Amino acid sequence: MKITERTGRLPILATKRLILRDIRVEDISDAYLAWINDPETTKHLEIRHRKHSREDAEAFIKSRLEDIENVKHFGIYDQDGTRLVGNISANINHLHKSADISYIIGHPGAQGKGYATEAIHAIVYYLFRHAGIGHVWAGYYAGNKASARVLEKNGFTVQARIRKKLINHKGEREDHIIAAILPEEFQPNASLLGGE
Ligand SMILES: CC(C)(COP(=O)(O)OP(=O)(O)OC[C@H]1O[C@@H](n2cnc3c(N)ncnc32)[C@H](O)[C@@H]1OP(=O)(O)O)[C@@H](O)C(=O)NCCC(=O)NCCS
Repeated sequence: MKITERTGRLPILATKRLILRDIRVEDISDAYLAWINDPETTKHLEIRHRKHSREDAEAFIKSRLEDIENVKHFGIYDQDGTRLVGNISANINHLHKSADISYIIGHPGAQGKGYATEAIHAIVYYLFRHAGIGHVWAGYYAGNKASARVLEKNGFTVQARIRKKLINHKGEREDHIIAAILPEEFQPNASLLGGE
């Protein structure tokens, strides 16, 4: 994977097919607003609880850009870095050198292509090998089988099932699953990361 470090800004991570970099305000297209507001795409995400206007989305992106020490919020771009198809974030706990990640592949033309698997691989590689992080975890609704699978494909293992912790999009209580990976368990895969 090619990592371009930039002073005071997020690095740019280039994998086999994707570019992960900071989202620019001008990247907030109507398509982006459509998928962050789409009930089906967001049914397992907390962002489903409210509608997001363009102003909300711009304010959120700006707040992420101003806090890169604590939150690494990458846009996921395909088509040679020109099309924003999703995002992936790592919240850093500096005291414990740990991070939790969350992700979405929202663009309808980009789902089911292995992009989430590739983006998770990239951010985990970056966190372990370049950011000094010693523990990465993710939480998901038990019914989110695609999320369970992308974490499993990246070597995460389930650490906990917190019973009936969440209320899902149908208004039913649902288990919350916590999965995690340690640096010594992570096996970089060149077919996802691409060359240097
Ligand atoms: C979860 C999500 C990120 C996956 O993105 P993606 O790029 O389509 O994922 P990938 O193509 O890398 O892999 C998906 C895997 O899940 C599997 N999968 C998808 N839906 C599934 C389902 N309903 N049941 C079981 N497995 C499923 C796919 O078959 C694939 O596994 P495979 O490669 O072994 O065939 C995407 O669906 C998404 O953004 N969902 C909405 C947001 C979200 O839920 N984010 C995670 C919050 S924890």
